[in-house]
Amino acid sequence: MPFLFYEVCTEDDIPDVGRGKRFEVEGYDLCIFNLNGTLHASGDACPHERVSLGDGATLDGEIIVCGAHRWEFNLVSGECLEDPAFPLRKFPVGRKDGVIYVGFPDDGTMETETVAS
Ligand code: FES
Repeated sequence: MPFLFYEVCTEDDIPDVGRGKRFEVEGYDLCIFNLNGTLHASGDACPHERVSLGDGATLDGEIIVCGAHRWEFNLVSGECLEDPAFPLRKFPVGRKDGVIYVGFPDDGTMETETVAS
């Protein structure tokens, strides 16, 4: 599947190891997690009730624990450990010359997703 890569931030903006941080790119809220130096990007809205993962989720190894109701997701696969029907949407991450990019699928499936307020 082809991807369109968008600039998200610089390396200076990367969250600390074991943390996530929310970014808005092209109207889409995403979260970048730093798993021991490897960056992973997902949708920021928790698939359960759409609370921001960047504003309270924690990492326990590869497992994201949402701060709202403590649902757990595998950061690498996107699998939801509570209910496989609610996977985390994942996106490829690239780095070039100190800039971080995230790829969105170029198939018309991206819709604007926001977190609950
Ligand atoms: S909104 Fe994340 S577990 Fe409920």
